[in-house]
This record gives sequence, structure tokens and C-alpha cells, in this order.
Amino acid sequence: MTGNPPIHPIGRVLTGIREAIPPVWLMRQAGRYLPEYRAVREKSGSFLELCFNPKSAAEVTLQPIRRFGFDAAILFSDILVVPHALGQRVDFEEGVGPKLDALKVIAAVARLPRHIDQARLEPVYEAIERVKSELPRTVALLGFCGAPWTVATYMIAGGSSADQVPARLFAYRFPDAFAQLIEILVEASATYLIRQFNAGVDAVQIFDSWAGVLPAAEFGRWCIEPCARIVAAVRNEIPQANIIGFPRGAASELDRYLNDVAVDAISLDWTVELGFAREQIQSRRPVQGNLDPLALLVGGAALDRSVDAILDAFSNGPFIFNLGHGILPETPVAHVERLVARVRGANN
Ligand code: CP3
Repeated sequence: MTGNPPIHPIGRVLTGIREAIPPVWLMRQAGRYLPEYRAVREKSGSFLELCFNPKSAAEVTLQPIRRFGFDAAILFSDILVVPHALGQRVDFEEGVGPKLDALKVIAAVARLPRHIDQARLEPVYEAIERVKSELPRTVALLGFCGAPWTVATYMIAGGSSADQVPARLFAYRFPDAFAQLIEILVEASATYLIRQFNAGVDAVQIFDSWAGVLPAAEFGRWCIEPCARIVAAVRNEIPQANIIGFPRGAASELDRYLNDVAVDAISLDWTVELGFAREQIQSRRPVQGNLDPLALLVGGAALDRSVDAILDAFSNGPFIFNLGHGILPETPVAHVERLVARVRGANN
């Protein structure tokens, strides 16, 4: 990285510059709503095999860029490759979601290795190199990881769980073992992100998808502190590293998150009120967001109205247009085309 202004709009926004036309990308932009993704997915074996096949992972990363001309490509992978690299069994069952060997007792945490097995993640770094070599220089390449709390909820529950009850119970019952797990994930995530930067990503996003279920006191300990430490560890190696934080569902805690986590920008979920976000958040840091994925699914007037409200709220400051969470598999491709055109200034 150099001292020159970044060549791509996303990088400029992340350094606090307002772009006249806001750059746009969508969380989960590579995925099942795209026929070309489904075609690659069908011949790739399991979901994890796709994630760990550098050629195919690079291909599906590039698909939405070719189709829509987004301003960022996000590496095709999953947050659960980190538990996999810690030796936990991770499978994705068709129509069910992720399945892991649940960490039920203190001893299961104690048995985890202290460090991730980087050899298991080599295919991810190779995918990054491949995408980077094919991506136009005006398009940013984003890497990512899950935040320790969110990843821990899957490791403890053994998959998705309503209100993340198993992890919350574990953290109350066995706070020292839970702290140890978070500690392992902080180190694993930081080294994983550093390697992603070394392989060629321009910025990374830390997904704390389940930040919103914690009481305020627990939020500080399990979301803010670990994320702050990851950011510090990454910047220790790569001082200019651009990092986006996404503490989903934590609108009432955003002020504290911004005080303590030195992210360059904050990704807002769709519940965050636009006036509040403009006055209290965008005045402090560039924002990204925050269209309701259901408005995109529905399309038409509901989509146009929602897009316009977001553009009105954020266009006077540094801003990246995005969804407030991942795109849904049922979303029509035409609605995504309409969204991109509207963000770029076509009003009908
Ligand atoms: O954004 C992108 O396009 C990049 C790829 C990406 C995926 N997962 C691909 C994926 C990213 C950034 C993720 C992050 C992720 N994975 C999160 C954090 C963001 C969020 O959505 O909250 C979480 C919690 C996971 C864990 C995960 N992965 C779950 C719960 C599931 C099953 C639910 C589902 O949507 O199927 C996955 C599977 C997954 N990850 C798919 C994709 C494209 C679908 C699997 C398939 O194609 O068969």
C-alpha cells in the first residue's frame, strides 16, 4: 500500500472521501440467486469443496462483477472456514445450513489448538491471488472474517441456533472457557485477515452477524473487545489496512462500538434509522448500507422508495451503498440490476 489516494471508489470512501456517485456492492452478492453460481455450485461437490477450490471460488467471486459491474468483489468463502482450520468438523447440509461438532463442555474448548492450521486456508489465499489478477483495478477486492462472538455461536451450538441460546448459556456458565475460545478466535481471525491482505485484498469486513442478541454488558466483553483487538493486531502488521465493521442488530451500541473499535467504516443493518445514522454515525465514520434485503426481493416501488431514502440520507458524506444483510436466494436478478442503475443515477 502507498500514500497515494486509492484508485478505486471503495478505497477512497474508506479513507473518508465522499464519492459523487456512491460505490455499491451487496453482501452475499455471489450466491444462489445467480444462475451462473448455481451452475458452478452443482458441479463443485459440497459447499466447502467450492470454498476450497481456488479456481471455482475465484470464478464465483467474479460472476457478480461481470454481471452488474459492482465496485467491490467479496472473496467467495465462509466465516466457518476458521473453525475448520481449528480442526472442528464443519459441513454444510443442503437446505439445512452449517453443521459442526458442537463444543458442549469446557474440555472441548480446552482441546482446541491455540493456532489455526494455515495449510487448510492456503486455497483461500490462492483464490484471492487469482481474483486479484483478473479484477479491473477500479474494483476493490474485499476479504472478510466472522467476528469471534458470531463464529463462537456456531462452534458452540454446532450450527445455526435461535437467539444463539447455546453460546449465551455457555458464556454465563463457563465464562473462563468461553473467554479462552474468544481468545483463540481473536488470534485466528487476526492472522487470517493479515494473510488475506498479504494475498491481495484491498479491505476486509468483520461480520458480527449475531452482535444484536447480547445484553449491553456482554456486548462489551464478547463483541467490542475482541473486535478491537483484531483491528489492533491487523494494524500492527499492516498499518494502512482498511477494515469495515458490521455489528449487526446493535444499533443502540454503535456509539460505544465506534469509540472502541478503530474500524474505518461501519456497515449498518436495515433497522438503523437513517436520520440517526447520518447525524450520529456518518459524522464520525464512513457508512455502508443499509437496504432491507426484503425490499430488494419485492422490487418495484418498494425498492425504489427504500433506495431513494438511503441515497437522500447518506449521499452528502462518505458512503458505500449495500444491503443491511445478505441478499436472499429468491431475489430476482432484474431487481439487482434496477438497484444498481438507481444508485448510479437512473431514476426510472
Ligand atoms: O458475501 C459474499 O458473497 C461472500 C461469501 C459469503 C458467504 N458467507 C457465502 C455463503 C460470506 C461473506 C459469508 C459470511 C457468513 N457465513 C456469515 C456472516 C454474514 C451473514 O450472513 O450473517 C455467516 C453467519 C455465515 C454462516 C453460514 N454460511 C450460514 C448460516 C449458511 C447457511 C445459510 C444459507 O444462506 O444457506 C452459510 C452458507 C453460505 N455461505 C452460502 C453462501 C453463498 C449458501 C450455501 C450454498 O450456496 O449452498
